[in-house]
Amino acid sequence: MSFETINVEINEGIATITLNRPEVLNALNSHVFNELAEAAIRLGGDDTVKVVLITGGPKVFAAGADIKQMVEMTAVDMVLTDKPSHRAFHLLENMPKPVIAVIAGYALGGGLELALTADFRIAADNAQLGLPEIKLGILPGAGGTQRLPRLIGAGLAKELIFTGDFIDAREAYRIGLVNKVVPVDELFTEAEKLAGKLARRGAVALRLAKSAVNEGLRMDLEAGIRYEHQCFSLLFATEDQKEGMRAFIEKRTPQFKGR
Ligand code: CAA
Repeated sequence: MSFETINVEINEGIATITLNRPEVLNALNSHVFNELAEAAIRLGGDDTVKVVLITGGPKVFAAGADIKQMVEMTAVDMVLTDKPSHRAFHLLENMPKPVIAVIAGYALGGGLELALTADFRIAADNAQLGLPEIKLGILPGAGGTQRLPRLIGAGLAKELIFTGDFIDAREAYRIGLVNKVVPVDELFTEAEKLAGKLARRGAVALRLAKSAVNEGLRMDLEAGIRYEHQCFSLLFATEDQKEGMRAFIEKRTPQFKGR
């Protein structure tokens, strides 16, 4: 896959999307959003891809939306140009396979909002996370005011959004914003280890488990439980369910086929 502002590599079922605008700390402009959307569509539809990693590389995740692109924009421009970020983030969040954000250095503003679309976040011990938009006279406009409170609760989310302060990786772990903190030189090994583990799980079960959680968060509890039951029941139509349960009984490792 050939892009200009991102690189995409696929290795043994694990796709890695790497933001590639180092000269501006991977700031996200409309071109990046459009390429992220295209990558999400292609990787989401590629059955050979089991897990997707999103990263900015070993130095910086992303320092937010591109301020230089936004500075002279009008409200009408924003109504129109907001769409690429919303579309890209919606596609990434709803990819039918696990997505892991792999964060080194700054994950700020739209960069953190990108990481919030992933299922998990692994951070290097040098990571700095925050939503500094308030210091620019705006607010997080790529899902931050919605996804962050759903993840860490309204009180902590408001603190980050209203102050614009950065927090380090340990604090992000403490408040549940990241799943794991590792030394920076082990970041990619740890992410690949987790991705490899997920790649060995049944792809249909993973897809429906992700859907049950994501869709369930948009429903009341009773509707969510009903939706979970539909997903659960459907899995009994898969070869993987038979294989998983038989392997348990036969005391062997299951070989899932993703069907
Ligand atoms: N947009 C455009 N350019 C950016 C950028 C951004 N978000 N962040 C950094 N850059 C550019 C800088 O302008 C600089 O370019 P020049 O060399 O041409 O001046 C280059 O990247 C390196 O940055 P710094 O010299 O500032 O690096 P630093 O190490 O001194 O500071 C930083 C790093 C603390 C991350 C600082 O760059 C910073 O505060 N960046 C902006 C963070 C921010 O406010 N993000 C929110 C953006 S708005 C948003 O995301 C809206 C939304 O909700 C969608």
